[in-house]
Amino acid sequence: MSEQSFQTLGEFIIDKQEDFLYSTGELSRLLSAIRLASKVVNRQVNKAGIADIIGKVGNQNIQGEEQQKLDVLANEIFIEALSQREVVCGIASEENDDFIEINTHSNAHLSKYVVLIDPLDGSSNIDVNVSVGTIFSIYRRVSEPGTPVVLEDFLQKGVNQIAAGYVVYGSSTMIVYTTGNGVNGFTLDPSLGTYYLSHPNMQFSRTGNIYSINEGNYVHFPQGVKDYIKFCQKEEEDRPYTSRYIGSLVSDFHRNMIKGGIYIYPSTSQSPTGKLRLLYECNPMAFLAEQAGGKCTDGFQRIMEIEPTELHQRVPFFCGSYDMVEKAEEFMKNAHPQS
Ligand code: AHG
Ligand code: MN
Ligand code: MN
Repeated sequence: MSEQSFQTLGEFIIDKQEDFLYSTGELSRLLSAIRLASKVVNRQVNKAGIADIIGKVGNQNIQGEEQQKLDVLANEIFIEALSQREVVCGIASEENDDFIEINTHSNAHLSKYVVLIDPLDGSSNIDVNVSVGTIFSIYRRVSEPGTPVVLEDFLQKGVNQIAAGYVVYGSSTMIVYTTGNGVNGFTLDPSLGTYYLSHPNMQFSRTGNIYSINEGNYVHFPQGVKDYIKFCQKEEEDRPYTSRYIGSLVSDFHRNMIKGGIYIYPSTSQSPTGKLRLLYECNPMAFLAEQAGGKCTDGFQRIMEIEPTELHQRVPFFCGSYDMVEKAEEFMKNAHPQS
C-alpha cells in the first residue's frame, strides 16, 4: 500500500454503528474495549523477551494444556478491560474453567452482551518469536438482562454471533473483525498507537494453493484427510499445493484468507474431536470465513450450526477457500470409516 489510509478503527466503529437498527452504542463500546486491550497485549508480546514473561506458569488449564505466562497475562488484560468498561455481562475464556459473571459494576448486569475469548492463540510460539493472536466472539445473552448470566448465554450456535474477530501480533499487529457485513482489517501504527483501515472488505479467493495441517499426525488422521492430503500433493495442472503451517490458528487463517488456502485440524485416533475449541476458536473463525466468502465445516457439517453442549468443547475443523473445503468434504464423505 503506497498511500496511507486515514480511517481509524475508532472512526470506523462509530460509522458502522448506524448499520444496526436501534443501536445504543453498546457494541461500539465493547469493540473499543477489545481494541484497547489488544494494544496492551501487543505491548507485552513485543517486549516478551526482556520482561521475564516468556515461559510456563507451571500449571495447566482445564484442558490439560500448559499455561504460558503470556496466556495468563493476556487473559487478565482482556478481562480487566472488558469488565472495567462495563460493556459485557459475562466472559468465557480458554484460560478459565467456568464463565465469569461481570457484576462488579452497577451497569454490568444490564449489558446484553457476552464475550468468548482465546486471549492468546498459538502460545507455544511465544518463546520463539513467532506470530500469536487473540480470538473473540460476541453474542447477545439469551437470559434476561439484569439477572445473573447463565451457561446458556454462552452455549449458543455460531450463527447467533453478533461480531467476531481476531488480533494477529505479527510482523505488524492487525485487528480483523466482522459484525456480519463483511470482514475488515486494521493495522496498528505502533508510533501513534492507532489502528488504521488497511484491508477493507477482505475475501477468500474461491480456491487457492496452500494447505495447512500438522502433517506430523498423519498416521492418526481419518482416511478422508489422508486422501485429501495426497490429492493436494498430486502433480496436476495447479498442484502440488504448497504446505504452510505456523501452528497458530490466527496466523494460518490470516495468511490463507489473503493468499487462498485451506486449514485443517481434523479428528485424530487419539483425539476424536480434534484439538480446536468450538466456542472461542472455531465459531469466530467460521463467521469470519463465511463473511469473507469462504467455508468452514467439521468435515461434514457447517461449524456455525453445531449445537454446543460444553464451554470447552472441541470439534474437527476444516476452514478456508470455498472450493478447497468442499473438495476436502468430498474426500471425507467418500472415505471408509476411520480404521
Ligand atoms: P492455543 O495456543 O490457544 O492453545 O491454541 C493452539 C492451537 C492453534 O492455534 C494451532 O493452530 C494449533 O493449536 C496447533 O496445534 P498442533 O501443535 O497440534 O499442530
Ligand atoms: Mn488457540
Ligand atoms: Mn490460547
